[in-house]
Amino acid sequence: MKENQPSRARFGSKFGVVMAAVGSAVGLGNIWRFPYELGMNGGFAFLLVYLLCVLALGIPVMLAELVIGRRSRSNVFGSFKVLSPNGKWHYLGVVYVVAAFIISSFYFVVAGWSLEYVYQAVTDQFSNRSPLELSQAFTDFSTDALRPIFWTIVFVFLAAGVILAGVRKGIENISKVLMPMLFVIIVVLCVRSVTLPNATEGLKFLFYPDFSKINSSVVLSALGQAFFSLSIGMGCLITYGSYIDKENNLLGTSVEVSVLDTLVSVLASVAIFPAVFSLGINPAKGPELVFITLPNVFMQIPGGYVWSVLFFLLLALAALTSIISLLEVITAYVSEEFKIKRRTAVFMASALLMFSATLCSLSLGEGSVLQLFGMPIFTLFDYVSAKIFMPLGGLFIAVFLGWFCSRKMVFDELTNGGSLKTKAYDLFYFLLRYFVPIAILMVFINELS
Ligand code: PHE
Repeated sequence: MKENQPSRARFGSKFGVVMAAVGSAVGLGNIWRFPYELGMNGGFAFLLVYLLCVLALGIPVMLAELVIGRRSRSNVFGSFKVLSPNGKWHYLGVVYVVAAFIISSFYFVVAGWSLEYVYQAVTDQFSNRSPLELSQAFTDFSTDALRPIFWTIVFVFLAAGVILAGVRKGIENISKVLMPMLFVIIVVLCVRSVTLPNATEGLKFLFYPDFSKINSSVVLSALGQAFFSLSIGMGCLITYGSYIDKENNLLGTSVEVSVLDTLVSVLASVAIFPAVFSLGINPAKGPELVFITLPNVFMQIPGGYVWSVLFFLLLALAALTSIISLLEVITAYVSEEFKIKRRTAVFMASALLMFSATLCSLSLGEGSVLQLFGMPIFTLFDYVSAKIFMPLGGLFIAVFLGWFCSRKMVFDELTNGGSLKTKAYDLFYFLLRYFVPIAILMVFINELS
């Protein structure tokens, strides 16, 4: 076992661990994706299914990833090799690296958009545009051949810089500063939103249950969104887990991270929907919700300039800490498995990602040939990562730890060698072995039938 590797990086404190993991979890998924998924899938009913997915499936899978990572002290590929030296599980590790790559490709593009919108907000470009012009401006920008790519490349440099600074000095330190800041910004935005005239309409939409809206595709959307938002099902938290020290209570960490992540998603919706309803805008907007609808909202409320700058800054910061976790999955894999210097691995990964993010961005251009299965590769990557790779990835993690690793090892990790005790560990083990795999399979079977 590679248990004792004095040179391997470690997070420095418990707070640092939680902030780094929250940094990965809280991102575009919470502020850009969650609100539009909620808007399109019926509001509160979606929220309830989502909460259930986080509780019964998300927390167990997150904990399983942390256990695998800390026990093996290795990257996604190496961790399966360490824990199952004679098995074929490490091939799954390769699939996870590919998933990290696919997610990063479209994620970088949207992160780039958020930078353009920070720029537009700061230079006050929304204020003299009509709603139609705002919508046209977004379409023109996102389908442009050069501008989004420029911002995407800026983002790649930012993320690579953090990764190069290292696990503790880069990832941990930046998350410790940005996450609390982001929390303050989002609370301020919520207060603004719920104090607008007619805000109660939006709150009703968010918190009034309409169960007739729940069907199998809503359940799959909620499941995919939960896994995407918690950054689970593709080895990101296996990688972060490998940097966590022995004393950390992994169950506590998983619960804290999941609660904070869910809170941010709900707060983001509270910051958005009351404002949207207050202006009489249809909430069922897709991915353009934050980029078209919100500038509209900001321009019609007092102090809109400040709110728009704050909001898009929030979006960009949240995207940054998530992106570094995706890049870390690839970097750790390449540098450890191919014995390459970290610096070289970061350069290689960044160059490759710049290329695939460019393809994703160009695929949105009008009449672009970059289509697969009848959709732009950008849309395809978003779809397959949240609705296929991550739920299935989570299923395999549960099966691996629940059925192919010894119970003794799992409990040793959970209890930190016997020093922690709670009945919750038995519940976790049951969920991992039976509930998680069966529930995820059922969601898929239901969706396909
Ligand atoms: N959880 C991130 C978000 O909500 C996205 C992400 C997925 C990050 C997978 C890392 C790994 O935006």
